[in-house]
Amino acid sequence: MQLSRRELLKAGIGVGASLFLPSTNLLAQAGPLIQKKIPSTGESLPIVGLGTARRYEAVTTEAERAPLRETLREFKALGGKVIDSSPTYGTAEQVVGDLVSELKIRDSLFIATKVSISGRDAGLKQLEQSFKRLQTPKIDLIAVHNLRDTQTHLRTLREWQQQGRIRYVGITTSFDNQYRDFEQTMKAEKLDFIQVDHALDNRDAGERIIPLAADRGMAVMINLPFGRGRLFNAVQGKKLPEWAGEFDCKTWPQFFLKYLVSHPAVTCAIPGMAKTEYVRDNLAAARGRLPDAAMRRRMENFIDGV
Ligand SMILES: NC(=O)c1ccc[n+]([C@@H]2O[C@H](COP(=O)([O-])OP(=O)(O)OC[C@H]3O[C@@H](n4cnc5c(N)ncnc54)[C@H](OP(=O)(O)O)[C@@H]3O)[C@@H](O)[C@H]2O)c1
Repeated sequence: MQLSRRELLKAGIGVGASLFLPSTNLLAQAGPLIQKKIPSTGESLPIVGLGTARRYEAVTTEAERAPLRETLREFKALGGKVIDSSPTYGTAEQVVGDLVSELKIRDSLFIATKVSISGRDAGLKQLEQSFKRLQTPKIDLIAVHNLRDTQTHLRTLREWQQQGRIRYVGITTSFDNQYRDFEQTMKAEKLDFIQVDHALDNRDAGERIIPLAADRGMAVMINLPFGRGRLFNAVQGKKLPEWAGEFDCKTWPQFFLKYLVSHPAVTCAIPGMAKTEYVRDNLAAARGRLPDAAMRRRMENFIDGV
């Protein structure tokens, strides 16, 4: 079972060489990452990015930085592009800024961060600080974090987008109790991106928010794709079903990610990664075949049954 070439093209998935590779596990790990288009511009992004919450938040020593440097190096080497951060993630923006400039990889990345504070002036100050910490004159995407003072910050972000300091504007949430306001904002505002929590065992955003993004022409970035490890606990000690091979999936992380990124309206997922082995594992979810609608339902039934 796999999505047809026509279905993939319809979903805006770039058909790189990977889709034509034979389905052996070995070859599924080679080739370019599958890409999807940002609806507002048609620019393509790889369907798996990297989140920096928690593991990048309290980094003070070189011993703590070294594995993150290797993680980012590996991420870029394997074709990774999207990095998500926030001024509220402690040292994360600074660490990303330092390592990206050290590795000289800024030009190949798509850097996303957020504004997360109340008030126009406080927002301006926080945004300027993000530019300094990330050490870049242009940030690819800035989103209003968890709908905090949304109207105020969207005004600023749009001005900065006009000035060319920001390429894309969006909003984020990871809370069900914000979904109603989130939908209202999506209906009222023109946004390039939304970011929302979604996982194989947390599918509420799939009911209205993700379809609404498709209707409104907004790119969808998925946070908490593993539910911060909740999904790994759910399958602990369980073997991957044999049918996972039908969509070139070898590991549980790939199972969880392929479920998300195969949704036609999802642009990319941003799993938190601070280890090179996680990068290798998770980016492999952006290669080979993806599950089709029937297979996605099978995956849902499987997780509902564990
Ligand atoms: N409202 C918002 O805007 C919002 C809210 C939440 C998150 N986010 C963004 O979304 C990103 C993702 O969320 P998250 O990092 O909190 O949670 P997550 O992606 O659901 O889970 C990340 C954790 O899963 C584990 N993991 C990752 N890859 C693995 C692999 N291949 N094998 C085994 N374990 C693996 C790691 O745990 P260990 O490190 O413990 O091994 C990692 O810290 C964040 O980093 C952040 O950028 C945004």
